[in-house]
Amino acid sequence: MRIVLVGPPGAGKGTQATRLAETLQIPHISTGDLFRANISQQTELGKLAKSYMDAGNLVPDEVTIAMAKDRMEQPDAEGGFLLDGFPRNVSQAEALDELLETEDMKLDAVLDLEAPEDEVVKRIAGRRVCRNDSAHVFHVTYTPPKKEGVCDVCGGELYQRDDDSEETVRKRLEVYHTQTEPIIDYYKSQGLVATIAATGPVDEVTRRALEALKRDQ
Ligand code: AP5
Ligand code: ZN
Repeated sequence: MRIVLVGPPGAGKGTQATRLAETLQIPHISTGDLFRANISQQTELGKLAKSYMDAGNLVPDEVTIAMAKDRMEQPDAEGGFLLDGFPRNVSQAEALDELLETEDMKLDAVLDLEAPEDEVVKRIAGRRVCRNDSAHVFHVTYTPPKKEGVCDVCGGELYQRDDDSEETVRKRLEVYHTQTEPIIDYYKSQGLVATIAATGPVDEVTRRALEALKRDQ
């Protein structure tokens, strides 16, 4: 399957993508994670992306689309993929459509994760991520690690993302409303959108997403 996950920062895209990708046996492709890997490896792309990310803005389309395309063309993505955080504006959605068309492929579904703004702000404020693996995500109140600051899965150090400050989160939410939300209508016109309530227990949200995917088949 080829799936796009969309939703405001903190809706739980990364959390759900990890689970859905495992269940569906497709790679989880997160442009945010790809940028963060470039930042930690201090590549040119990472240096460029960091300034945009820290300000809560989108990284320019040209580099983002090239990076996403390169990842989607890896052999493990031949049978399908789950895109998390891409596309993030209408021109990226158009670029993805073009890319899929040249390969004679189509998207199967767009899952729109909905959560109220006060909830996503609380989720982001308490989020802690493992330095070793971005799939190891915790929350200081909702899903606290057994030992403060230490990853339960691998023992790695937990940290707070640079773009999770209150000011940057506000900017990211504004960017989501003005630039990303329009892709929901874009995909609605293609009949691809399933809206998922992203509140309640993590397992419950995963169940809703899998149900929606079954209905679409
Ligand atoms: P990105 O990394 O994609 O960040 P985001 O979209 O802002 O989303 P988040 O990672 O903040 O949240 P999430 O929805 O994944 O939530 P999570 O599962 O972690 O992008 C970062 C930046 O990179 C962008 O601002 C931009 O600069 C750049 N970028 C990326 N893609 C780009 C693109 N295509 N074009 C241009 N620029 C791009 O959950 C959050 C917290 O809540 C966690 O602590 C989790 O444990 C907890 N939680 C999750 N679900 C639940 C639940 N059901 N109940 C209670 N707690 C929960
Ligand atoms: Zn870890």
